Amino acid sequence: MPALEIASPDRADEVVTPALGGFERLRVADVERLCDDAVAVTFDVPDALRETFAFRPGQYLTLRTFVDGDAGRREERRSYSICAPAGALPRVGVRRVETGLFSEWLVDRVRPGDEVEVSPPAGSFTPDLEPGTHHGLIAAGSGITPVLSIAASVLAAHDDTRVTLLYGNRRTDTVMFTEELADLKNAHGARLQLVHVLSREPMAAEIFSGRLDAARLRLLLGALVDVEDVDQWWLCGPLGMTADAQEVLVEFGVPKQRVHRELFYVDEPPPELSRAEPGVQGETSEVTVVLDGRSTTLTLPRGEAILDAAQKVRGDLPFACKGGVCGTCRARVTDGEVRMRRNYALEDDEVEAGFVLTCQSRPATGTVTVDYDS
Ligand code: FES
Repeated sequence: MPALEIASPDRADEVVTPALGGFERLRVADVERLCDDAVAVTFDVPDALRETFAFRPGQYLTLRTFVDGDAGRREERRSYSICAPAGALPRVGVRRVETGLFSEWLVDRVRPGDEVEVSPPAGSFTPDLEPGTHHGLIAAGSGITPVLSIAASVLAAHDDTRVTLLYGNRRTDTVMFTEELADLKNAHGARLQLVHVLSREPMAAEIFSGRLDAARLRLLLGALVDVEDVDQWWLCGPLGMTADAQEVLVEFGVPKQRVHRELFYVDEPPPELSRAEPGVQGETSEVTVVLDGRSTTLTLPRGEAILDAAQKVRGDLPFACKGGVCGTCRARVTDGEVRMRRNYALEDDEVEAGFVLTCQSRPATGTVTVDYDS
């Protein structure tokens, strides 16, 4: 079986796509190596697209390319958080992940001058830049990327804003943005409380050695942070770390609505979506998808996620992770019912309002309408 191969930008250009489907070709302006296995990729934005690519701190970009495999060429997308302060050129931080062909391509092969297809900034992990606010940030590993953007933007917005940042990594040589964090600290002094925690390297004080798990967060918050003074909390990293941080913040009396979470990956196997459930094999539903004001009604199997099934006809439907994490495929059910299997992206109030992740949702009634424009 031939190995999958990321198509070069030239070959990607040969692919006949009906339209860029919301993606724009942006030229890579710079590739900075952050540590052994991570880079920051900055994109040039032509004047005509400045407004389209203006971003709020904490948002992400979705990149796409084409992959050659046994079954022919297929489209691959990945979302990467923006790690630049508001107002700067968009820059994403990318860490090479094992068997991650997409990240390998970005970390090892993309060079300044290359063109990459990028969709405009998205995501709601974004603070209001109000004066006098104190933001608490907890990040692990590459979870620092949106957090760096938030920290730099909050501190630059007003003279009286403050940031407390707890940042966990394995070893010193795996820390992304070491110098930029030090520069932020130098520029803003006591307005930035920066705490590094390392799990596989001894630190001067025992409290800074170990994983950012619930026990260590209890210690750090209890000893070093005026939790009551923090207005909003922003958590980014793997599921386990963010779940622990949520739990500990609740113990410290922080209201749930002040805690915001962005996942980088979910460290548990996804539920199998391709296998049909008993009783639904062969059954179909009339599913109407609405996107950009255009309605399309399709007869879709009840055993398949709406996104996967509808994409065969509506190639413009938005997605990135297809794992229930990023929220890009969010739509509102305006008729009928669906069964959503996994959700790490939507807040409770969004679910109550009828929003679902279409990559995780199968039709459950004879007719269903999902509206991506809501
Ligand atoms: S595509 Fe990411 S949650 Fe559905």
